[in-house]
Amino acid sequence: MKAIVPTGGRGVRMQPLTFSTNKHFIPVANKPLIFYPIESVAEAGIKDVAITYNPGWLDLVKGFLGDGSKWGLKFTYVLQPEPLGLANIVEVCEDFVDGDRFFLHLGDNIFTEGIKELVDYFERRKPYGLITKIRHPENWRMGVPVFDKQGRLKDYLEKPKNPPNEFAVPGIYFFDSVVFGCFRGRGKILPSERGEYEIVGPFKWLIKRGFRVEVIEYKGRWLDPGKFDDWILANQYILDISNSGQIKSKIGPKNVIQGRVGIGKNCKIQNSTIRGPVLIGENVTIRDSFIGPYTSISNNSLIEKSRVENSVIMEGVKIVNVERPIDSSLVGSQTEIIGADGHSDWVEFFVGEKSRLKI
Ligand code: DAU
Repeated sequence: MKAIVPTGGRGVRMQPLTFSTNKHFIPVANKPLIFYPIESVAEAGIKDVAITYNPGWLDLVKGFLGDGSKWGLKFTYVLQPEPLGLANIVEVCEDFVDGDRFFLHLGDNIFTEGIKELVDYFERRKPYGLITKIRHPENWRMGVPVFDKQGRLKDYLEKPKNPPNEFAVPGIYFFDSVVFGCFRGRGKILPSERGEYEIVGPFKWLIKRGFRVEVIEYKGRWLDPGKFDDWILANQYILDISNSGQIKSKIGPKNVIQGRVGIGKNCKIQNSTIRGPVLIGENVTIRDSFIGPYTSISNNSLIEKSRVENSVIMEGVKIVNVERPIDSSLVGSQTEIIGADGHSDWVEFFVGEKSRLKI
């Protein structure tokens, strides 16, 4: 079996960060988001993985992911010439799949308990298509399965205005290679009203032709850090479950470290309180500050005379002299937030397009 993990898309919901980077490489608990799906794929025993990309991104994507060997995987990079939708990702991978069975694991979805059970189920039962379901209060912004009276899948809707049930289909989709027939001939799938080749298309094509498509419930927690507030939530959840609490730098006596706090190499922590769960990368300086629960701070950042809680701080950020607590924030790489230490009546910004500041 083979796997496909995409790195494309328009990244609109994560602007302005996605003006300068690709959403899949923004960190969740100090690790690029896409590493989570890749780890799940490796853990499920898959070896051959296509990484799809949109024009202009190959160097960055390859720079982060390499040839896959660090996960024991073999990556094939496949160009998706335009972000035309999830079914189009499948279509551009036909040569890579080469008649095998395969699945598409979205690059921005985290299945916290892994996917091995799903992969094993697909191998064992060999349906032509397999999707998963979870209960989700906002399933109107997702795919929704529709069942007949016997509980069999009879339809599959993309972002329905009035969902017929409480289920949603998260971002992992299994196929037999018979599915490539949906891109050819008279019955081929067409773009939706919003102009995308939706992932429901290939499944509807299979169902209509009598190919068996199954649905199983995903029992673990599913995270979808596709937009700002969900990113903070995903960061919280991962900090809770996976932070090893290892401290690799020397911590002086004038600090208070409480709860599960992971600290990387070459950090300088002085006269500060750090209350976990907190994850701090390498070469970070924290001076005269309070770092509160559910915060992750990436490499080479500086926090001085400030208070940061429940936030994602990316690489090379400087937060200095900020009197008011910074809470529930996502701060992009190389950003500087400098307070006037109570000596100024105004605030001063040099802020990019589509930034969001709450003062
Ligand atoms: O997250 C689960 C949901 O993902 C499903 O419930 C929906 O049925 C499915 O359509 C999808 O909805 P989103 O609106 O969240 O998809 P998004 O456009 O964010 O794209 C998902 C992933 O695929 C993300 O990793 C970006 C990548 N992508 C997306 C498109 C449209 C590509 O690589 N190429 C593309 O053309």
